[in-house]
Parts: sequence; C-alpha cells; structure tokens
Amino acid sequence: MNAEYAIIGGTGVYDPALLEDAERHTIETPYGPAEITLGTYAGKRVAFMPRHGYNHGVAPHKINYRANIRALKEIGVHTVLATAAVGSLKEEYKPGDLVLVDDFIDMTKSRPLTYYEGAPEGVVHIDLSDAYCGRIRGHVRETAQEHGIELVDGGIYVCTEGPRFETPAEIRMYAAWGGDVVGMTTVPEVILAKESEMCYATVGMITNYCAGIAPHPLTHQEVIDTMKDNVQKIRELFFRVIER
Ligand code: HPA
Repeated sequence: MNAEYAIIGGTGVYDPALLEDAERHTIETPYGPAEITLGTYAGKRVAFMPRHGYNHGVAPHKINYRANIRALKEIGVHTVLATAAVGSLKEEYKPGDLVLVDDFIDMTKSRPLTYYEGAPEGVVHIDLSDAYCGRIRGHVRETAQEHGIELVDGGIYVCTEGPRFETPAEIRMYAAWGGDVVGMTTVPEVILAKESEMCYATVGMITNYCAGIAPHPLTHQEVIDTMKDNVQKIRELFFRVIER
C-alpha cells in the first residue's frame, strides 16, 4: 500500500469517480485507525482522506489528527493538499473564494497537538516559520494561474475549537489580530504534517462571512451549500497540481 500525494477533504470534496482503481483501506497506527481511499490519478498514487469520516460524523475537535497524518506518512505520502471550509473575516474575501493559506493562529483548546510529548517520540520543538510548505504552495499558485482558477494568494487562518461558530466579539478580536479566515481544522493537522516532514498546504474555501459580519445567523447548511456549489474548483485545482 503506497501513495505519493494525499488530499485531505472536508465537507464534500471526494468524488470516487476521480481515482482509478479506488480502494478503501483502514490503516492502523499507534494513535488508532485512519480511513483512506487509495487510487491512481494521472499515473500518480493518491490517497484521499475524509477528515470528518465518510459520513461527516466526526466533529472538528474529535478528529484523530495524529492517526490521520501518521497513516499518510506510513504509506509514503510526501505531499498533502488539504482543504477546509472557512469563514471570512474580511469583506473582500467573499463566499466561494479560494484562499491559499500561509500562516495560522491557534485558538484550539483541547486537542492533542503534537507527536513530541515525551516518550516514545521524544520532545522536539519544530520551526513553523514556513508552516505551510512553500514548494507546494508555489505549485498551487502557478497551477491556478495556468488554468484560470481564481485564488487569493495568502491568508492567515485562525483555528478555533468549534464545533460552535464564534461570537461577534471573538470575530472582531480575530480581525484586529490580522486574521483573514476562521476555521476549525488546520490545527493540529499542519503541525503534525510538519513534524512528519511532509510538504503540506491548505486551500480554504470561504463558505460564509463570519458571525457579526454576516447579515444573518450562521448555519451549517450554509457552509455545506456553498461548499457544494464551489467544490469543483478545489477538485480541479488539486488534480491539476498532482498531474503537473
Ligand atoms: N467559523 C469557523 N469555522 C468555519 C466557519 C466559520 O465562520 N465557516 C466554515 N467553517
């Protein structure tokens, strides 16, 4: 069992028709099992990982991020393209836009954040100056330009604990701190990928304006509907990057 690339999808990204010879596997890791679909695209072995499970049954703070990233490492993945639904903190970042995230602020509260918490993996302090891998971000940026896929190049992702949405006061604070988008999943995924020496990038799909900016109360349905309407852009972008 092996793959070079992984796509980690949030809500509604995976389409089984995209991979040839797609097969589902459960990979056992020291942190627990992880689910993937393995297949081939443009001659490359690709693993698709549904972050919330195939039935979207796992809440963001309950996702077993350590098992997920370890499973990808174990099958040889070197490059991870992740996507996540995010809310926008800025009027100019509109629902439907794609944002190539380049930094994060961690506001999570209760998740295991590292492999390095003592034995057996030791204590290591990793550098996050380039948390989201510059190499693959470059490929994503160039691919978007070549194929006319609109992409906001750069954005700070504020990662909250969820599963609730934020209060308007929290959103004003995150905006004042310089955040661009808010989501619930990039931490600790990006950290664990870095600790595992994998090249990892996140493309955020803006599904809504954040609480207090949006003119109405937020609903999960709104997030799902906007994702569904725009997910084709993310699919095209990721598969064009893989076939490069
Ligand atoms: N906040 C946090 N996470 C999200 C949002 C939001 O507004 N939209 C999609 N994921």
